[in-house]
Amino acid sequence: MDGNGRWAKARHRPRGFGHRAGVESVRRIVEDASEIGLKCLTLYSFSTENWSRPRAEVAALMALMREYIEADLERLKREGVRIRILGTRKGLSNDILKLVDRAVAETNENTDFNLNIAFNYGGRDEILRAVRRAAAAGEDIQSMTEQDFATYLDTADLPDPDLVIRTSGEKRISNYLLWQAAYAEFVFTDVLWPDFGRAELIAALKEYTGRNRRFGVSEESEVA
Ligand code: IPE
Ligand code: MG
Repeated sequence: MDGNGRWAKARHRPRGFGHRAGVESVRRIVEDASEIGLKCLTLYSFSTENWSRPRAEVAALMALMREYIEADLERLKREGVRIRILGTRKGLSNDILKLVDRAVAETNENTDFNLNIAFNYGGRDEILRAVRRAAAAGEDIQSMTEQDFATYLDTADLPDPDLVIRTSGEKRISNYLLWQAAYAEFVFTDVLWPDFGRAELIAALKEYTGRNRRFGVSEESEVA
């Protein structure tokens, strides 16, 4: 979800105004994704690198996360949404941890839609935490398979993403789902996150549908 700052700047408003609009976009897209029939949506809301933003902006982003869960949890619960949080607990305040733990615990019986929030998330950090967990669990590192290893990731019980969408014209992975996105399709759009809505989601899905996914296997016609 990129481009909140530029969205605000274009309106001569502070960055926080863009982040607030970004949350509205989150609310809409969760509804849209579920209505369209998607089962799983992961949103990159705060990266381990985002801590190096100005203190006030970090505080504003934390406050918005708090507000979103406080305001929407009951409704998401009713709508059958299961919330998972991907990322490290390190650096997060106790009140935020309590709140996200509650969101996860109170929705863990839901099965209609999986909403994963990558919050205080970094792909390298996740992989390193998974290595440590595997070691702590006494896993035999020498004989460990990719499937074994994946059970130590934050996404342990989730499928790999089929499609990764990045908004705002940036064409980077920025430490997002590094392990899981190995064979994901990528769609890049210039649309800024607060403007990303149902039409843009459908366009991205259409583009995805037209892709020929081979997972590293050659096409039959290419085989001599
Ligand atoms: C994305 O918007 C929101 C978060 C990283 C939380 P940005 O804040 O990165 O917006 P730009 O890139 O400055 O436009
Ligand atoms: Mg950005």
